Amino acid sequence: MTSATITIPDAEAMRTFAAEVIAPQLAHGDLVILTGDLGAGKTTFTQGLGEALGVRGPVASPTFIIARTHPSEVGGPSLIHVDAYRLGSLAELDDLDLDSSLDSSVTVVEWGEGKAEALAEDRLHITLERERGGEVDMVNPDYGVREVRIRAHGDRWADVTFERN
Ligand SMILES: Nc1ncnc2c1ncn2[C@@H]1O[C@H](COP(=O)(O)OP(=O)(O)O)[C@@H](O)[C@H]1O
Ligand SMILES: [Mg+2]
Repeated sequence: MTSATITIPDAEAMRTFAAEVIAPQLAHGDLVILTGDLGAGKTTFTQGLGEALGVRGPVASPTFIIARTHPSEVGGPSLIHVDAYRLGSLAELDDLDLDSSLDSSVTVVEWGEGKAEALAEDRLHITLERERGGEVDMVNPDYGVREVRIRAHGDRWADVTFERN
């Protein structure tokens, strides 16, 4: 299992991290599980992925619709963006009305830990955490460093290293 931790200073850096470190490694059929509190940056991360994958946007919080499919505009995999917050298990993601199969897509599941593992043996777990103990910036309350941890499970990721291109 590969594991790596990286510090992300702001939202733009989160998009860049997703676009330059994670997206280049992704192919159709891949599953990414995102863990982190509300406001941790899961959707921001997914926006960076979507830009880099060249899918039709905008990537936004899917909270009220559970899953949204973003088709590729460059002949690559589509992006399936799932919010599992209200779901019990994702063993039957096929029951969701997706426009695209998991095999032909990159699937990103917010709040997916403990729910989406059944979808694939091979998966990336990405955990986003606010730094603890930092003072809240009242002028810009959204500001905040995030600690991001990547854990890769399965043979698919055995030889993959995550580095900025
Ligand atoms: N380092 C950072 N990474 C990601 N988002 C950040 C960061 N610093 C501040 N933010 C802000 O935090 C918020 C994250 O929201 P969002 O991505 O919707 O979180 P989630 O999907 O985890 O609930 C955004 O307003 C974003 O601008
Ligand atoms: Mg979100």
